[in-house]
Amino acid sequence: TGMITLDPGYKNTGSCESAITYLDGEQGILRYRGYSIEDLADKANFLEVSYLLVFGELPTQDQLINFENDIRKYTLIHEEMKDIIDGFPKSAHPMGILASLTSALTAFNPRPVNVSSEKEIYNAVCKTLAKFLVLATWVHRKREGYPLSYYDNTKGYVENFLHLMFAIPTEPYKENPIIVDALHKLFILHADHEQNCSTSTVRIVGSSHAGLFASISSGVSALWGPLHGGANQAVIEMLEAIKNDGGDVEKYILKAKDKDDPFRLMGFGHRVYKNFDPRARIIKKAADEVLDALGIDDPVLDIAKKLEKVALEDEYFKSRNLYPNVDFYSGIIYRALGIPSEMFTVMFAIGRLPGWIAQWIEMRSGGEPIGRPRQIYVGENLRSFVPVDKR
Ligand code: CMC
Repeated sequence: TGMITLDPGYKNTGSCESAITYLDGEQGILRYRGYSIEDLADKANFLEVSYLLVFGELPTQDQLINFENDIRKYTLIHEEMKDIIDGFPKSAHPMGILASLTSALTAFNPRPVNVSSEKEIYNAVCKTLAKFLVLATWVHRKREGYPLSYYDNTKGYVENFLHLMFAIPTEPYKENPIIVDALHKLFILHADHEQNCSTSTVRIVGSSHAGLFASISSGVSALWGPLHGGANQAVIEMLEAIKNDGGDVEKYILKAKDKDDPFRLMGFGHRVYKNFDPRARIIKKAADEVLDALGIDDPVLDIAKKLEKVALEDEYFKSRNLYPNVDFYSGIIYRALGIPSEMFTVMFAIGRLPGWIAQWIEMRSGGEPIGRPRQIYVGENLRSFVPVDKR
């Protein structure tokens, strides 16, 4: 064990070779399969990017049409899944329900994916993208007391997200193109981020040859935490709290700097980005544009901007290279689209899904060995057992 290097949080450990996402934290560069995030967020749609991440190349027109159609084949959910959904209390957090439902899919799809078959992989990708989207929106509908909805085959994947979330049986749902565009952009920006906590979780669970749904389910659980994807919900709650507290951002900056106070500035800081998070830049701009286009004036956006400004001028944040991350402004857009804050991390999960799938396939196809880190033992030396009546 003399050879083991200790690296808590794997801050300097590469766990794999990967050809999916390139990230340069010093320069704020993020690329999927060689395409810059700025280019993709501006010009691509979410399914194109999903295809790119999973299969390595942008789809041709035909491939994209087929992909959309093949996803449609899997959008029906087993009726018995509804009983499982009914079992959750109304107060359950959407991420907990989503992780459970994703895991429950294994019960209805018990056969493992044969990773040496391209056809099986392709079908598994379509199936996962299809079922996850429907279940994610059902979590919302159940909590709101709406009847469950079905995928509309005349619409695209992102349009279906809106339809599945918000359609009511008595009125056709008409989506707003501003909202559709914003969603494509947000999902694309979340679609992959190399070996982050949830993706590493998906890979390590999959490395034991556990199934795709089981691996994705653990990714959802990892994403839920407030230091990871759960930050987007925490940000909006923090901004609301500041607003209700009279908008005194300086007070919260002081709290965040106070080492005796567990409070952190949510949506700030990143393990890898040390100058800026390119996703946050795009989202900040999009927040302005979307709210403007929808004619929404959200005082929380002003608080966020003020908070960012004060933090970026503060020595504490400067010296630690803490900048707004992807979660800082995203919630403000979600809110403008009518998505409740407890669903924000589910939005992140829908966006991250193609990345999880791509990374799982890469790991399995590459024949990676089981993930099994070592440790440095710091516990007791050998002791003799003492019977309970002698302790
Ligand atoms: N507010 C106040 N201080 C902070 C913050 C923050 N948001 N983030 C980091 N610091 C301080 C931290 O206390 C430490 O200070 P010191 O050197 O004096 O001990 C220093 O900055 C380095 O932080 P760290 O915790 O060692 O850094 P890390 O790489 O382990 O953690 C992080 C990265 C993202 C977990 C952390 O910055 C954080 O907790 N941020 C708030 C939660 C958040 O926004 N998470 C979303 C991450 S981005 C996308 C995603 O995964 O969802």
